[in-house]
Amino acid sequence: MKSLLLISLLLADALSFVVPRAGQEVDYSGFKALRLKLSEQSEDIEAQIEELAAHVLNPGRSELLDVVVAPENVDAVTALAAESTVITEDVGAAFKEETLATKDEVSVAAVPSETWFTAYHPYADHITFLRDLQSGFTSQSEIITTGTSVQGRTLTGIHIWGSGGKGSKPAVLFHGTVHAREWISTMTVEYMAWQLLTKYSTNSTVKAMVDKFDFYIIPIVNPDGFVYSQTTDRLWRKNRQTVSGNSCVGRDINRNWPYKWEVTGGASTNPCSETYKGQAAGDSPENKGLVAHVNSLRDSKGLTLYIDFHSYGQYILWPYGYNCNVVVDNDAQHRSLATRAASAIRAVSGTRYTIGPACSTLYATTGDSTDYTDAVGQSTYSYTYELRDTGNYGFTLPASQIQPTIRETWEGVVSMVRDA
Ligand SMILES: *[C@@H]1O[C@H](CO)[C@@H](O)[C@H](O)[C@H]1NC(C)=O
Ligand SMILES: [Zn+2]
Repeated sequence: MKSLLLISLLLADALSFVVPRAGQEVDYSGFKALRLKLSEQSEDIEAQIEELAAHVLNPGRSELLDVVVAPENVDAVTALAAESTVITEDVGAAFKEETLATKDEVSVAAVPSETWFTAYHPYADHITFLRDLQSGFTSQSEIITTGTSVQGRTLTGIHIWGSGGKGSKPAVLFHGTVHAREWISTMTVEYMAWQLLTKYSTNSTVKAMVDKFDFYIIPIVNPDGFVYSQTTDRLWRKNRQTVSGNSCVGRDINRNWPYKWEVTGGASTNPCSETYKGQAAGDSPENKGLVAHVNSLRDSKGLTLYIDFHSYGQYILWPYGYNCNVVVDNDAQHRSLATRAASAIRAVSGTRYTIGPACSTLYATTGDSTDYTDAVGQSTYSYTYELRDTGNYGFTLPASQIQPTIRETWEGVVSMVRDA
């Protein structure tokens, strides 16, 4: 009884800061990022930790849990774990190393320069970036939209084609920022588009890539969550959809795809969880738009390669997420492309990636994008990249690491596109 009371008191405490009052930003000063080792696979202990933590950084990974915890809850959380190490002493202080650029001064539409990739940017500037980039290459690109978010933002991307003309080749599709806090994924996906267009006329490797495929590139597929991560809670992951009768907000769009969504164990049915799957398969508006786009690519020239960019962990993963014993029929080809991509990345910078099928390599995930693009979208290849780092900075990778990350990742992607 006593411990129950204690837990509910701590819980009330925990909830008081994850729900900021309107217009107020969550202040993570003094919060610690901890890596916890759990003594046994106890869902009960995990649930208690989840409730005490402000955020679980790697939900689903049950033997090693990375969490962000308010100073007053650190003792309670570490007491529940078998072992704990501090990843970040002061999360709020670490955020300051990120540097969010203020509104860009350049207002005349011009092809963005490479300095764009030296800082993180507000949402509106990302849309401007895409429009400015497209306006420099009007004969081989166009702005595309793939649906609307809960709050009415348009999911915006760019379609790039080569000498065969618009829509003449099989599709390569890149998604970024399905998880709002994974800001490095936005920059990485934008760099892919920027490289393909600005290097097309001078680099034969790039020209060959663009002439071989139609590229569909959507840097921010969760715009509401991304905005919320910039205005209110830097560690926000999900969309901003409500559930009637529950005060918790957000579906995990990457647990909402309508393929094996109903399978248990790879997502949460609790609206307060970081991996809340939604009330029905594909019931987030963002997911509906993405599904329609994937299906339309499948039904036109077909999908050859899909990559969903995330952070962090340095993994290249392929289907399936929903079941560790089900192997894709072209598993060997997936492994071969991923092996070469990981070598290409390592050759640039020494950064090491772990590769493998998602469920057996990382953890079970149901309703995730790559299971869908493989099984329903019929993409020849489907990958999830978990970008830098391995937890030291986690989601708040310093701006100084944007260029090293995007450059190494680019070479991994070039290798995949060449071999696909
Ligand atoms: C062309 O681009 C590829 C892929 O990034 C790169 O490896 C190669 O060095 C570039 N070639 C030149 C001449 O810059
Ligand atoms: Zn993610």
